[in-house]
Amino acid sequence: MKRRQFVHGLGAMMTGPLLTGVPRRPPLRVNAARLNGWLDGFNAVGRTQTGINRVGYSDLDLAGREFALGLFREAELEAHIDPAGNISGRLEGTDRTLPPILVGSHVDSVTDGGNFDGPVGSFAAIEVIRTLQDQGRRLRHPVEAVIWANEEGGLIGSRLAVGNTADLDLVARSGFTLRDGIARIGGRPDRLDEEIRTRGSVACYIELHIEQGGRLEQERRQIGVVQGIVGLRWIDVTVRGMANHAGTTPMDQRRDAMVAAARFVTAVHDAVRSQPGRQVATVGRLVPVPNTRNVIPGEVNLSVDLRDLETATLDRFTARFEALAREIGDATGTTFELRTANASAPAQADGGIMALIETSAASLGLSQQPMPSGAGHDAQQLALIAPMGMIFVPSVGGISHAPDEFTHAEDVAHGADVLLNAVVAADQ
Ligand code: HGY
Ligand code: MN
Ligand code: MN
Repeated sequence: MKRRQFVHGLGAMMTGPLLTGVPRRPPLRVNAARLNGWLDGFNAVGRTQTGINRVGYSDLDLAGREFALGLFREAELEAHIDPAGNISGRLEGTDRTLPPILVGSHVDSVTDGGNFDGPVGSFAAIEVIRTLQDQGRRLRHPVEAVIWANEEGGLIGSRLAVGNTADLDLVARSGFTLRDGIARIGGRPDRLDEEIRTRGSVACYIELHIEQGGRLEQERRQIGVVQGIVGLRWIDVTVRGMANHAGTTPMDQRRDAMVAAARFVTAVHDAVRSQPGRQVATVGRLVPVPNTRNVIPGEVNLSVDLRDLETATLDRFTARFEALAREIGDATGTTFELRTANASAPAQADGGIMALIETSAASLGLSQQPMPSGAGHDAQQLALIAPMGMIFVPSVGGISHAPDEFTHAEDVAHGADVLLNAVVAADQ
């Protein structure tokens, strides 16, 4: 549906009461204390000395999933685990012919992360269903709360759920292959094609998430209405030189993989910074072999995380990195092998869903602004099969993927209220 038509329809639906004298229904609100109580309780689950470590498929991820399964039980929702390990629970609607409205996020974390990236959206999704239950309200559509598996490992659960593939032999951060990891969390990696969510099987998908950047805080806005989500390329790089003695090998006779890798890291950084645009690239992992003081590294493995809203930009920089690798390899007597370990296309939010979110935020008296997402989300996989929208709430100091990640309880509640009202509006 075109955005203008949608807004017009929505306007009529939301303001009609004004014209017709029928009192407009006040916006719904979630049970903020209950929702934030869950988050507070979850803060201890998977926490280690260095932060939250609910890394996908790990024991601490299992503990986090068990906590979430407890919330489904409390909501008297039958929790279902699909072949990819995603957890879902459904509040049936009054019209059995309608596909579900999906809400959700993830509970796994990065290494040494925070407690808000993912759980805010996952628990708000369950809270939306609890509030509808509390109010004895049944929508026309079923409402399904979903917790996607191993989001931080490359949107694995959501990409498999919509029929996208993943290399199941890839070793995840937890040390398990995707295949073993999925089995570990209750999935069925040999039957992934059995429950694919196809176009038409989902009415729409709406995800609440922390912004993970500082714009909302800086611009004193309470709600971010996501316009689009960046595309993401994870490029694994292996630099091969020749291991040798640190003492007896003259400097001009070395094929030092570390020197080559170091040059590549700065070259990637400079290349991305030298061009106009919002593209970003990060080398967050670098592992020399044998990683020993008195040995010239014969091999270095590193990864590049490249992001932009345009696929053409991702393609352009991927090609640039390959050219840089060749140049640096020639100059250092080393070889570079670049492999794309994971790729997610940029995704546009649906104009109609954005309008729902805007109107819901306005009806709650919350300040808002449209913005792109520099972080990747399961929503970009769901956008491949259904109209998608995302709601952001402020991250204090713009910090995320770190132990100091924080969002105020009040903002969490605001985001959940917007999600609830957007779901109710979408149902109509
Ligand atoms: O990496 C990301 O952008 C997200 O947090 N998974
Ligand atoms: Mn994250
Ligand atoms: Mn996230």
